[in-house]
Amino acid sequence: MRQCFNITLVTPEGERTITAGSDQHIWEAAAAAGVRLPAMCHMGHCLTCAGKLEGPGEFDQSDARQYLPQDRAAGYILLCTAKPRSDLRIRTHRQRAMRRFRLDAGLPAPYAGV
Ligand code: FES
Repeated sequence: MRQCFNITLVTPEGERTITAGSDQHIWEAAAAAGVRLPAMCHMGHCLTCAGKLEGPGEFDQSDARQYLPQDRAAGYILLCTAKPRSDLRIRTHRQRAMRRFRLDAGLPAPYAGV
């Protein structure tokens, strides 16, 4: 059964709370609500859309091509391919931080040189 969740996006321009369905990628729900977020591959690979959880919450990242247990443990989320499973509060525009995190952990970090 489809559920809807409140997603608070903490962007550089301020906070916006949107609604996202459990069958919906958060990036798409944000775009539909008029919130433009970075993205490139839309496949859960390049890390351009990275966000970071602020607080507890659950999401399904199984649509991502590469999302690692270490990413989850550190609170990172790939918004292009994440479906909510609870209300969430997410700081957006974390691509540089996530690439740095991956590099520091010896993990793949696409486009970390740019
Ligand atoms: S846009 Fe590439 S991982 Fe989300």
